[in-house]
Amino acid sequence: MSLPGSVVVTGGSRGIGRAFVVEAAARGYDVFFTHRGRAADAAETVAAAGPRARAVEADLLDRAALDGLVATVLAHGPVHLLVNNAGTMAHGTLGELTDEGWRRSFNVHVTAPVLLAGGFADSLRATRGAILNVSSTGGVVGSVHGAAYGASKAAILGLTKSLARELAPDVRVNTIAPGPVGTDMYADLPEDERRAIEAETPLRRVAEPREIAQAGLDLCHWTYATGQTLVVDGGRVLT
Ligand SMILES: NC(=O)c1ccc[n+]([C@@H]2O[C@H](COP(=O)([O-])OP(=O)(O)OC[C@H]3O[C@@H](n4cnc5c(N)ncnc54)[C@H](OP(=O)(O)O)[C@@H]3O)[C@@H](O)[C@H]2O)c1
Repeated sequence: MSLPGSVVVTGGSRGIGRAFVVEAAARGYDVFFTHRGRAADAAETVAAAGPRARAVEADLLDRAALDGLVATVLAHGPVHLLVNNAGTMAHGTLGELTDEGWRRSFNVHVTAPVLLAGGFADSLRATRGAILNVSSTGGVVGSVHGAAYGASKAAILGLTKSLARELAPDVRVNTIAPGPVGTDMYADLPEDERRAIEAETPLRRVAEPREIAQAGLDLCHWTYATGQTLVVDGGRVLT
């Protein structure tokens, strides 16, 4: 494996995705990251990461946009790493669940990563590259945010194992499952829920996005690991 080279990060306009972009650029990767028209956020990511980072506008719910993303990236050369980071939160009990929320969760967390893996598979095989999927501890032990988030994040673990088998021996496929991380997604939770999370976490704090990006990229570089889920959660699922 001849990393670094080029990496594609979905949802790189903010949060953990931005941290992946910054960390990958610092490690010498050329980075293509997606945003959904949030030009100011995308510009902030580029400013933080430097000239190795390029923004590509793409809504992962739009198949044509996914095809366009693959074509744009491959036009610049081969891909070494795909980080399926983009995520969407659909809070709600069974009674509150909507068709739209359910479909959006699975389309962003499962369908788009499958389609992107397919689009980049030949290039990743050629570079002996890697795929990193971003799940959540909610996908490992069940989610307090509801079935749509929890089930779609759990599906990522099965997807990772299946792709690890299918794309072996050339491409390694792994998952990182963060616990709570200090991003917009976390800030959107009610304050009492956030205080409880911090008190219940053995390390007594949520992760910084940078800590997840560093662990995720390290996992991509572990040359004998594939099909694995790395939980990075300050010890939460031990409690
Ligand atoms: N924060 C946490 O506590 C936590 C914990 C465990 C796992 N995670 C996972 O980590 C990943 C990143 O989370 P985050 O906290 O950084 O979230 P965030 O701050 O809410 O950012 C979400 C990112 O996903 C992108 N996105 C959402 N829907 C999309 C779509 N349809 N098409 C394209 N991009 C889309 C957003 O793009 P725009 O900027 O264009 O909206 C944004 O870049 C997610 O998969 C999340 O489930 C987060």
